[in-house]
Amino acid sequence: MRVLTGIQPTNILHIGNYFGALKPAIELQREDDLFMMIVDLHAITVPQKPEQLQKNIAFATAAYLAAGIDPKKATLFQQSRVPAHAELGWLLQTVARMGELERMTQFKDKSTAKGQNVSVGLFTYPVLMAADILLYDTQAVPVGEDQKQHLELTRDLAERFNRDFGQTFVVPKPIINIASGRILALDNPDIKMSKSAPSPKNYISLMDDADTIRKKIKSAVTDSESGISIDDARPGLKNLLAIFHLVTDEPMSEIATRYENKGMKNLKEDLAEALVAHLEPLQKKINDYLKNPDELEKVVSDGSLKAAEIASAKVARVKEVMGLRLA
Ligand code: TYM
Repeated sequence: MRVLTGIQPTNILHIGNYFGALKPAIELQREDDLFMMIVDLHAITVPQKPEQLQKNIAFATAAYLAAGIDPKKATLFQQSRVPAHAELGWLLQTVARMGELERMTQFKDKSTAKGQNVSVGLFTYPVLMAADILLYDTQAVPVGEDQKQHLELTRDLAERFNRDFGQTFVVPKPIINIASGRILALDNPDIKMSKSAPSPKNYISLMDDADTIRKKIKSAVTDSESGISIDDARPGLKNLLAIFHLVTDEPMSEIATRYENKGMKNLKEDLAEALVAHLEPLQKKINDYLKNPDELEKVVSDGSLKAAEIASAKVARVKEVMGLRLA
């Protein structure tokens, strides 16, 4: 099976990105043909400082490798090094409809506060994402729940294109993990954890040190009910139990039973230690990779060449069926 996913190199990845998309993708690399992408062309749909973006791209590469992406098995590449993404992005913009892009909730969320003052790229972004996926005949896309609507658009565009121009694209399916597909913000369990949140209390970044993790978990918003239970009416607590499950592999119900009478304070303290223990080895590996920029460059450049070969053949085929070729 061909599997593909991407993460934006904006800020430092948080545990939502890690458990929601990166780890599920890595689990698939053993048996499947995984394409793992640093989606820098998506990152620039909101203003980025060039030096910081460059650092974030290096960080993302190091994080993917440290988390377990094996460049011998998977293709790790940078979107902007493969020109076919921008090219198919344009071709598909002629297939996408204003109405369907206007319905995208992520665009509405990101643009509402800013009025007209957002880039056109932020609006057409889901079409570029569709191009990312369709270029590689991708069958499955591991993502968090917030990307579900973009995947539906991708499927609609693929089906429309195939109907109008003949069978060209594979119609992909999302893979959304129930336990990790929507990790909530620690400071507000009504919203998802997000890299671009105004307060760092919203998230645990992959690089947070032990004390920061302890403080953030301690101040995580829960509720005033006593006891520990798995209950949709207690989203803050349920989120902490989900994170506990993700770092220890212990089922949520067993964790809840163990802390039933021990209370929230103990649960938070032990969760913080479990998170620290989980992240420390990963942080060490990330720092080791970051000390070796030549190796990062080699991995990304080899991966991007491999990706470009497949992607440019697909764009050639798309141009042909659209009538953009002379012969
Ligand atoms: P991005 O960079 O916002 O997030 C990367 C991945 O992390 C998931 N995610 C979460 N999962 C669980 N809980 C959360 N709180 C949480 N926050 C984020 C996202 O769903 C995503 O899977 N448009 C994409 C990047 C992209 C892409 C692609 C993905 C571009 N092209 C092609 C797949 C295939 C994005 O902005 O993800």
